[in-house]
Amino acid sequence: MDLPVIDTPVFPRWVWIEEITYSHIPIATLVTAYMLLAPVLEYIGMRRKDPRLDRLSRSFIWFSMILFSPGAALGTGIPVYIIGAYPEFWSRWANLFFWPLVVQFLFFLAEVGFLFFGYYLTWDRWSNRKRLHITMGVAAAVMGLLVQTVWDALGGYMMTPGGVALPGVDQPVGWSAAAFFNPSFPYLLTHRIFGNFSYVLLLTGGVFALRYMTLDKKPEEKRYFGWACNFCFVTGFLFFFAMPIIGWGYAKVIQAEAPVAFHAIMGGHVSPHFTVKMGLIALMLVIATVYLTMRYRGRALAWAATGGLGVLLAVVHLHPPLDWLGPSAVLWRVVVTVVIGAPIAWIWLMRGRGDPELKRWQWAMFVAGVAAFFTFCLGGFVRERSKSPDTVYGQIVKPELTQMEADRYLVYKTCVGCHHRSPKDLDRYDAKDWSKRVASERRDRKLTISDAETERIIRYLKEHHP
Ligand code: HEC
Repeated sequence: MDLPVIDTPVFPRWVWIEEITYSHIPIATLVTAYMLLAPVLEYIGMRRKDPRLDRLSRSFIWFSMILFSPGAALGTGIPVYIIGAYPEFWSRWANLFFWPLVVQFLFFLAEVGFLFFGYYLTWDRWSNRKRLHITMGVAAAVMGLLVQTVWDALGGYMMTPGGVALPGVDQPVGWSAAAFFNPSFPYLLTHRIFGNFSYVLLLTGGVFALRYMTLDKKPEEKRYFGWACNFCFVTGFLFFFAMPIIGWGYAKVIQAEAPVAFHAIMGGHVSPHFTVKMGLIALMLVIATVYLTMRYRGRALAWAATGGLGVLLAVVHLHPPLDWLGPSAVLWRVVVTVVIGAPIAWIWLMRGRGDPELKRWQWAMFVAGVAAFFTFCLGGFVRERSKSPDTVYGQIVKPELTQMEADRYLVYKTCVGCHHRSPKDLDRYDAKDWSKRVASERRDRKLTISDAETERIIRYLKEHHP
């Protein structure tokens, strides 16, 4: 289907789609995380008669109200841009998910109603009808979560269509349960929920830390912000530890359902981005562990952090050893054990020592919050880039695909996975007799590739794995 594609006057098309989606998604995730947290905090505050929790929860909603309109307006930019720039993708994809898209619009309307009229405007008026007020907050949160659920289902389909073909422009489908409940949907959804809680709370804690620094003349306020920044920071830190487990399951599904994307992340063209993401996580974990160790003597947090870091260590060891330190797997395992073990030892040796009031620690918390935010951004970037040039995995390519991207995809699909665990392995093959090797592999492994495809594979390997 040759629908006309609009070209961008400046910057490549992908830069625009990244920019437009990034203008909306951080705001939407922040609002959704705040909306889910607010009624819970308000409830705990009511039970414990702790006005600080009420104030924190209220400030989340107040800030969500400020962000709500720009977030929603920027969201409408996404389909507008896609309709012009990726028209075939949009017509086919929106056609497959027409009814979920309509229903998410109703969820959105209900969310606005509950949030604004039921929850935000009534905070004072219903101060002695807390249960009713909290119920409104829960209703708003559930609606917001349902909106996110629909989008994560549609986004999940783009990575793992699960055998459901993208219908043609002229084949209205409207709704497909198999496409909606596609294999990666539950993983994407939970990864996003916990990731949102974690990054939003760490970032909020970091921003509150800066606020705390400026309040020397107002001791009341300072006490509140000191409490709020630590509360957010600790909960964000603890939420993070669900991520390696969910992420592991998510990666497994991608490996099974979208192997080319998996190879792209694990050693292929988006592995540098993925590595930076892991580096940001490490930075956040180091700052948070050291800071919280100084701040709190209590055993509960020490055990929680030890458990979390233990899970991380287990996940790193379940993963095949990396070759960053040379070919020795043992060396790798020893070094990662020491690197993750050190903060655990630190926690138990240094509990309650040091001075968390130093200004540089407030700045460090802010840096950790920003690192958590960029971790989240890079996650989305890696997900979209890994399946490039496909827009929907195995179903449709983007209009601006280059020959190189198409050839790379073909090589990953044809060669990596069978015996090469990662695209990097192609570098380790010293003979480099690609014309001969590909011809013999095609024959011996009975590959179903055409002559033209064989040529493309050889050309790509010669150029990129010389
Ligand atoms: C059906 C599985 C399968 C597919 C698909 C496949 N190979 Fe192989 N390949 C093998 C096996 C089995 C061997 C021999 C055992 C070994 O050395 O690992 C091998 C050996 C090789 C070797 C030499 C061993 C080494 O050092 O890695 C190279 C290079 C190679 N393949 C490249 C390719 C390329 C390039 C493609 C894509 C055109 C490809 N293979 C597709 C199964 C496969």
